[in-house]
Amino acid sequence: MPRIIDIHTHIYPPSYIKILQSRAPAKQIPYIATFPDAPNNHRLIILPDEDSESTPSTSRGRPVGPSYWDISQKIKFMDDHGITQSVISLANPWLDFVEPEKAAETARSVNDEIDEVCGWYEGRLFAFGTLPLSGSIRDIVGEVERLATLPHLRGVVFGTSGLGKGLDDPALEPVYQALEATNQLIFLHPHYGLPNSVYGPRGNEYGHVLPLALGFPLETTIAVTRMYLSGVFDRFPKLEVLLAHSGGTLPFLAGRIESCIAHDAHFFKEEEKRRGIWDVLKTNIYLDAVIYSEVGLKAAIDASGADRVMFGTDHPFFPPLGEGESEWLSVKTNYQAIDKAFGDDKSAAELVLSGNAARLLRLD
Ligand code: URA
Ligand code: ZN
Repeated sequence: MPRIIDIHTHIYPPSYIKILQSRAPAKQIPYIATFPDAPNNHRLIILPDEDSESTPSTSRGRPVGPSYWDISQKIKFMDDHGITQSVISLANPWLDFVEPEKAAETARSVNDEIDEVCGWYEGRLFAFGTLPLSGSIRDIVGEVERLATLPHLRGVVFGTSGLGKGLDDPALEPVYQALEATNQLIFLHPHYGLPNSVYGPRGNEYGHVLPLALGFPLETTIAVTRMYLSGVFDRFPKLEVLLAHSGGTLPFLAGRIESCIAHDAHFFKEEEKRRGIWDVLKTNIYLDAVIYSEVGLKAAIDASGADRVMFGTDHPFFPPLGEGESEWLSVKTNYQAIDKAFGDDKSAAELVLSGNAARLLRLD
């Protein structure tokens, strides 16, 4: 059996599920609720506007079951799909919503719980930790340093909001510094998408397609471009960032970003020469292979290199819609994209399927 490593795979540990359930009475997004017309159906409401009264309760948010919180289901999914090792991460919206005074303690307990769960399947599970971003900078840096000491942790996952002002916020510098110093990767993942107004008055006739297929990747693209424009990669040249969904649209748009900079009087006046975006793509950025087509995957490989792209599944999101299907279409499509993109170049495919993750995240 070939070794396969999944670096984009989520979990909501049981203690986090309890937090989400406790928010249901006040309908404070994110929350997990049951609705009177479907009392056995737990629905996870995490995206802005998912709980609008005009949406039928059976299409609000998404149905959730044990695959979201029961680690034995993750292992079964891995076995069903030939996945040797997984690097699990808390799913969105992480701890973004936690009250500031509880942030540090909540992050510690969620991270300890995830580290412990990895230990139940020693060698098969590793994790990206979560940061108390609503807490103080001291709390956040303290957790970065503590995560570096936990045996199964290999970096951190977070969204695009940072401390509330995005990832180009100068106040985040001590966090980037601590991550760079402790050699921990950032897994940058979308959650908030784009303002609903861009989807138009008929937006909710199209299910989750517009926010998930387009809102998510554009959110990631804008967030990492803001980091780049603010000089984060000039000040932290060793910072490593893994971008979800093959970088959103960054591989496709990098040339346009560079050209806009070259034609902007604001940047023309810069005294210090900034690093080029293609250089950052090849030295600071890693991309997952969660893009479902060889066209997008080839763009990711062209932009960052076959030694910087890594297989992922996004489990437990995008399950098969039919009852009792054990093979997931979403996973099969990503395997096929890798096959088609590399053809006979088996050694490059092997890098994407496991070699890059094993090397980068020290999974041996
Ligand atoms: N939907 C989400 O909310 N998160 C994911 O990671 C994938 C789909
Ligand atoms: Zn994901």
